[in-house]
Amino acid sequence: MTDIKALEQEIRTAIEAATDEASLDAVRVGAIGKKGSVSALMKTLGKMSPEERQQNGPLFNSLRDGIATAVSAKKDALHNAALDARLASEKVDVTLPTRPLPQGSIHPITQVTDEIIAIFADMGFAVAEGPDIETDFYNFTALNFPEGHPAREMHDTFYMTPDEEGAKKVLRTHTSPVQIRTMMAAEPPHRVIIPGRTYRCDSDQTHTPMFHQVEGLAVDKSTNMGELKWVLEQFCKAFFEVEAVEMKFRPSYFPFTEPSMEVDIRCDHSGGELKIGEGDDWMEILGCGMVHPNVLRNVNLDPDIYQGWAFGMGIDRLAMLKYGIPDLRDFFAADLRWLRHYGFSALDMPNLATGLSR
Ligand code: DAH
Repeated sequence: MTDIKALEQEIRTAIEAATDEASLDAVRVGAIGKKGSVSALMKTLGKMSPEERQQNGPLFNSLRDGIATAVSAKKDALHNAALDARLASEKVDVTLPTRPLPQGSIHPITQVTDEIIAIFADMGFAVAEGPDIETDFYNFTALNFPEGHPAREMHDTFYMTPDEEGAKKVLRTHTSPVQIRTMMAAEPPHRVIIPGRTYRCDSDQTHTPMFHQVEGLAVDKSTNMGELKWVLEQFCKAFFEVEAVEMKFRPSYFPFTEPSMEVDIRCDHSGGELKIGEGDDWMEILGCGMVHPNVLRNVNLDPDIYQGWAFGMGIDRLAMLKYGIPDLRDFFAADLRWLRHYGFSALDMPNLATGLSR
């Protein structure tokens, strides 16, 4: 009869000696595979007397199970050793420059938004956000648009289907509702810019139903129009990357500011190329003003204690001006050739230290 102890020892030695998963598997097949030595032993049980079977059955079974366990433990050990060896030999140098010609590029609107955020962050402004689908209250009422006022119609508003109470939500027509959300969420002082998507039912070379604005808001006890003008001047110089800009503040009307102004900057259109800061042309770039006392009251701020200023401008328009992009609709046409031409490297984050656009 086979010496079980000797057989087990022999197999265990072979398992220990296996140096890779293939040689280990050969040992496994030779022992507990269909035609293996242990399997052959199991088959002898059939020809034994009941007494012999009762005695040998459990012994053979535990031999087979013990071998199976040893094989699987060795398999894990070999696997881990192989992984350790691979980890030790394969290295990725993350400091290597990426390959030239990276795939994909940054959309000019993302680029310009990042530039705007970099400039205002440098002046101490945080970024605030709000929802694209707004209530009438935030988009109009709280901003001092009286019910039925013609200024509401000027916005070509997209209205949503009315809810059970008949209230119609709107796709926000400007980023100004986030002024209200900002003032309701915390106590002054506030210094925020609010970039985001806005919507109006309008479409031609310079208008698309969805477009982008950036809003600015500062509220505290002492801020004033001088600060507003200084901030806007700093912004224009930094954004257009010029030493000086000349700005004209024209009286205008917005329900949520008093006084209200529109701002033009001096530019030169002659020679086919737009130059900012020189020439005889003026171009409107934004609306602004001192926050209307009614707006402050609507958010429970006492206009005798607090004052604020705000501005709003079109991001897409700024992108068109700075990067000489003639048609606004192309921004949203998802044309790869256009993106390759006007897009920016994904690796250049705009910042003031190294230059915004390079
Ligand atoms: N919300 C205005 C618009 O969409 C832009 C605007 C003008 C925003 C003056 C302001 C502001 O904050 O003070 O036409």
